[in-house]
Order: sequence, then structure tokens, then C-alpha cells
Amino acid sequence: MTTACGKPLEVCLQGLGRLEYRGYDSAGVALAAPGMDRVAWRKKAGRLSNLVHDIEAQPMPAATVGIGHTRWATNGEPSDVNAHPHLSQDGKIALIHNGIVENAAQLKFDLQAEGYTFASSTDSEVVAKLLGKIANTVIEETGSPDLFEAVRRTARMLTGAFTILAVDCRQSDIVVGARHDSPLVVGLGDGENFLGSDVAAFVAYTKEAMELGQDQAVCVSGERVEVTDFEGNPVTDSKHFTVNWDASAAQKGGWDSYMDKEIHEDPQAVADTLLGRFDTNGDLNLDEVRIDPETFRQIDKIIIVACGTASYAGLVAKYAIEHWVRIPVEVELAHEFRYRDPILTPRTLVVAISQSGETMDTLMALRHAREQGSQVLAICNTQGSTIPRESDAVLYTHAGPEIAVASTKAFVAQIVAAYLLGLYLAQVKGTMFRDEIHQIVDSLKVMPEKIQWVLDTQAEKVARAATSLVDAKSFLFLGRHVGYPVAMEGALKLKEIAYTFTEGFAAGELKHGPIALVEPGEPIVVIVPSSRGRDLLHNKVISAIEEVKARGAFVVAVAEEGDPDAERYADVVFYRPACPTLMSPLVDVVPLQLFALDMAKNKGLDVDKPRNLAKSVTVE
Ligand code: G6P
Repeated sequence: MTTACGKPLEVCLQGLGRLEYRGYDSAGVALAAPGMDRVAWRKKAGRLSNLVHDIEAQPMPAATVGIGHTRWATNGEPSDVNAHPHLSQDGKIALIHNGIVENAAQLKFDLQAEGYTFASSTDSEVVAKLLGKIANTVIEETGSPDLFEAVRRTARMLTGAFTILAVDCRQSDIVVGARHDSPLVVGLGDGENFLGSDVAAFVAYTKEAMELGQDQAVCVSGERVEVTDFEGNPVTDSKHFTVNWDASAAQKGGWDSYMDKEIHEDPQAVADTLLGRFDTNGDLNLDEVRIDPETFRQIDKIIIVACGTASYAGLVAKYAIEHWVRIPVEVELAHEFRYRDPILTPRTLVVAISQSGETMDTLMALRHAREQGSQVLAICNTQGSTIPRESDAVLYTHAGPEIAVASTKAFVAQIVAAYLLGLYLAQVKGTMFRDEIHQIVDSLKVMPEKIQWVLDTQAEKVARAATSLVDAKSFLFLGRHVGYPVAMEGALKLKEIAYTFTEGFAAGELKHGPIALVEPGEPIVVIVPSSRGRDLLHNKVISAIEEVKARGAFVVAVAEEGDPDAERYADVVFYRPACPTLMSPLVDVVPLQLFALDMAKNKGLDVDKPRNLAKSVTVE
């Protein structure tokens, strides 16, 4: 992130604090001010706090503009030297970079042949040196420094994915950026302007923001924001938007961790995602979606593309949408999608689910789908991000900013949004009666209360289980029907933040292999469907519990309150209040989120920033 304002160092460090979830293996800042002969910079491996302590011990000079970066290593190990910013050979320009520059090796080779030297093993330093060289060429040609032009020329020479930002001590009133396949958003302040990978970087200073398009460059000063394409042609139609949450929403607000806070925001995320989606007759009204009802009526297949947690939300939605709309729904990991020549037609609706709106794998999948002529709808939690901008339509989840790396409230909000989409399709296609749709909507509307009930009544029991199981080396999670993706999500949470080996699988598959893993004491978490009504799967899942119990497993069940079988066979039961089967994932995931959190806390781990992970993975 970067800033052109009165207190750039303070703004950069605060902004980096809010962006640290995007990467936290090193951090750095660079500053420029009139009269400086070289940019001032500081960088440190490790968490942002290392950098802050270093600056406190040895203060940096006052400045007019600054840039700052937190890194998630792609190219070169996390170390002081590989941290950003990187400098031009003469030290007059500092640059930060996100993404991967694919032709860095060739560019480096050419620069080395001209005598340039490199301190780090990063592609980013290559870009910094190249920019420095080009900036000097521009000065030779025109007689004065022009960082904006130099950045554009540099951008034209790069292949791969990049957002670059630069400051130059010879032009200490501007910060220049450029983006290709990597995010960058502009914050529009009063006498100060900002750039950030997402709006969290500057929302404490301004809620007015502007999107930057693909292959655009931007020059910001305190007074002005100028956007061009990489050739220098002015861009005047950049989309402005107002951030719909406050800086306080991105703070811990008394909780031990962001993850703690965000799990407790599950009910709100569901309620807010439902808000404003119905007209006065109670019919669904998804105006914002921008695809006309006739196009929707023609849709004969849905393919959901997503990664990680979002893909499990997609899998849950498959069960509901196929049931309601009677068209096939495929769910595909975004990174597999475009490499297998998927069958796409103009009547295929591709739904890209992404909390951040920046996951490169998902972005590439949607681009592929659009190239093949399919409609793409994004389900996304982040305004101004790339995935909704590049989609034909967007349905926003209103979960508020999610900071903890492990996704929690976004998951329940994604399920709700995908359900709304399914019900809307059923409405326009007429595959369900109006009353049926209204009934389902009613059952969705009471889910926030039911989630709250789980949080209020089950948390202690979950914490006790996490204490007794803290030393378990591995966990199996199993479920059937919508309980299957919930099992996989529960397994992923525990893997991500407690570093426990886990496997989530379909309960029916148990006898086809995984049962071989069951040893006395092996903890197995089982999502048990409701025992009431027409849920035939209940008995089958109970049989699976019996099978693993017979082999000495320790069974933790997630079951409906008062389920006599779960109580009889399981060692521990986390309860859900009664609800229709298709609604159960919204409550069943909650104790699993809490369980992962408690396990990680018991192990003394940083639950918000698990090792090796980043929240938005903007590289493929
Ligand atoms: C990363 C995160 C996961 C997340 C996935 C998809 O791998 O660590 O927690 O589920 O990306 O992120 P998205 O922003 O596209 O939902």
C-alpha cells in the first residue's frame, strides 16, 4: 500500500497492519521528501512488529509520500534482503511489487550484462533496477524526471502478474502504480490520496474509493489522481464506490483474535447477506446481479469455481440448487477448471465464489469461462476487487471484512448468497411454487438465531473437547449429503490453523478405504443428519459411527438437539437446533470453526496468521 499525504509513515504502518493478513513473512517501507538525495527505506523479515520496533529504535526522516509492503514469499525466501521495498541502482527510486514477473530471469540477465548488481533473489528487485534504468532514460530524453512515464514503460516490458508501486526522491509529491492481473485500489481523501491492495489499507482515512482496471497505471499526489493505460492514454471512466463498512469493523474490538470475532459474526453475516434481497411481496429481487431474467431462464447448467473454503460453500450449494432448479451443478476447484477443457456454452452459468475477489486461480477460471462465451456471476465479499469487476454479474456477500486467514463468516455468507441465487433461478425458471420459495426464505431468515444458539450454548463443550483432544495427531471428519462438504470444511479449518493432519470425506466412503486408518483413540468428527422427517441418511451415518466405534475410535458428533442415537453412540455431541437439512451446514460448521480455534489456541499458535498461508493468494 502507499500514500500521498501528510504523515506517510504513520499511514503506511497502520495500513500494513490492516493488510498483514495478506502476507506476513516480511515488511518494509520507503519514504520520499524534498531535498532527499536517495529514498529513505527500512525493511525487516518476520512480522510487521519487527519493522515497527526497528523504526522506533531508529526513527525515519519526515516525508511527503511513502509506500509500504507486507510480503508472502513467492520468489526468494523470507529474509531482510528479499523483503520489499527494492531500490534502483542509484537508490533514487524505491519499488514494491505483488505478483510474479515471469520474464524476470531474462531481464536480470540483460541488466547484469550492463553492470547492474542484485542483492536479493527476487523478481521484484529486477523490476526496481529496470525501473531505475528506464527513469534515467526518460530524464535523458526529456530533461526532467517523469516517474509516471517510467512506470508505464517498465510495465510494458513485464510479463506475468504484477502490481507495482514506486516513489522517486526527485518527485517527492507523487506515488505511481501500475497493475496487471494483481489488485490495486485507489482511496480518495481530502488533500491526501491512497493506493492499496484492498480498501482495508486506507478505510480509516477515507471510504471513497476508485477501482483501477486491468493494465492501467495511476499517479497520485495529495491533490490529484491521474489514470492512464500503459501507453499513456488517459482513462476517465474509472468506477468510484463508497466502502460500506467502517474501520472499526476491521479491528478486533476486544476479542482475543480476529478469528474469534469473525466466528461470532456468523449470525450477522447471514442476516446481512439476506438483507435487501426481497421486494415487498417477499419475492427475490436481485437487481444488482445485472443479468436479465431472460438470460437466466436460458441457463441449463451451472459450474461453480472456487478454492479452499469457498469451494466447500459451492459444494453445499450444489445440493440445494440442483434440488430447487433441476439443472446440473458442477463444482470445480478453480485451478483445475481451465486445464481440463470444460464444456462451456452460452447457456452455462459459471459462478465464481471468492471472499477476497482476488484469488488468481479463480480469476483465471472465470476469464477462461468468459472467453468460451459463458456468463460469469461472482459471489464475493470484497467491493472493488478484481473478480466481480471482471464478471458479468455479482452477488455480494455482506460478511464485512474478514481478516483472519482461515475463512469463517465468509463461508456461511457464501452459502446464503448461493442459495439466494438458486432460489432466484427457481423463481425465474418457475421450477418451484412461489410458496415453496417463500418457505425456504423464511427458514433462511431464522438461521442467524439458530447460529447464535450454537455459539451461546455449545462453545464451552467445544472448548472442553479441544482441551482433551489437543494431543491428537490426526482427525478424520465425515459427513453425508450437505454434511460432506461441512466435514471437509471442518477438516480444512483444523489443518489450516492447528497444523493437525486431517481428512474430510464422505461417510459412505468410509468402508472403501479410510476405515483402515481407524485405530483405538483416533478422533473422528461426524456430521449427523437430522433423525426426523424424510432424512433417510441419518441411520446410515449412525451405522458409520457404530463401525468406527467398534474399532475403538473416539467419536465427536455434530447432531440435532435431542438426537437419541448420536447421544448413545458418540463420545461427545455438539448440538444444532432443529432445522431443514439444507439449512444445517450454516449451523453445523460453527462448532467446527470453534473447535479449530480452540485447538490452535491450546497449542499456543497464532490463529489469525497460520504459517505459510496467506488470505488472498494472488498468484497462480
Ligand atoms: C486461500 C485462503 C483460504 C481461502 C482460499 C480462497 O487459500 O487461505 O482460507 O478459502 O484462499 O479464498 P477466496 O478469497 O477466493 O475465497
